[in-house]
Amino acid sequence: MRKYIFGGNWKMQLPTIKLATETARLIADLMSTVKGVEAFIAPSPNTLFEVGKTIEGTDLKLAAQNMHFMRQGAFTGEVSIEGILEAGCEFVLLGHSERRRIFLENNEDINKKVKLALDNDLKVVLCIGETAKERFDGLMAKVNTDQLSGCLEGVNGNQLKNLIVAYEPVWAINNMYLNPGIEIKAATVEEAIESHKIVRGWFDEIYGVAVADKMRIQYGGSMKPSNASELLRQEDIDGGLIGGASLKADSFIAIMNSI
Ligand code: PGA
Repeated sequence: MRKYIFGGNWKMQLPTIKLATETARLIADLMSTVKGVEAFIAPSPNTLFEVGKTIEGTDLKLAAQNMHFMRQGAFTGEVSIEGILEAGCEFVLLGHSERRRIFLENNEDINKKVKLALDNDLKVVLCIGETAKERFDGLMAKVNTDQLSGCLEGVNGNQLKNLIVAYEPVWAINNMYLNPGIEIKAATVEEAIESHKIVRGWFDEIYGVAVADKMRIQYGGSMKPSNASELLRQEDIDGGLIGGASLKADSFIAIMNSI
């Protein structure tokens, strides 16, 4: 049995320590109403340390939204693994579509980050997903499996116990910079089932059935209390990576409680 896992990706939406710690405290307090799930929040880097202190000792875990692939050095504006471990992070999001498409990270960069994290016992939430055009052109499976093979190059099956995949179709992410001019909506259950099967199938083919069976695959992209339960009922959907609906404690908790 795979345990459901939910992540709140706060992006740059709760940008001050006051906003971030208040929201974190509310969510942490309400975690007592949720049973049988694992949950983390990924606050802005400048708030990470204080949020970490706020939720220390609660059931809510801490994630960073990104990190550099080097431990230390002359990299203006970047965040080191040392800093995020010091802040108390158990997880790091890597390869989010906003990083790939707005900040032009490629699979090779992400692969270096994945290895650095896994080698240092930091759990990775590896985000993958195709754009609307790629899906329209029939490239959904290829784009996602290429991202998996590029980002996981040289990672062995044993290390994958510390990896979670977030399948987030770019066209479903509530972000007008990623999706100019298109109507943004969550994947239908059928679309999500098809993609999640492809992702699990890739793990089966490359790493074998034991790894594939244990791999937790989150769905992300406009998940909210009104559509969560139908998505989460599907065999290959093991939780959610949630942006907008994780910024308010009650909607984030309602999503978790819809399992
Ligand atoms: P959204 O974002 O839930 O606001 O669509 C999800 C994500 O980008 O992780």
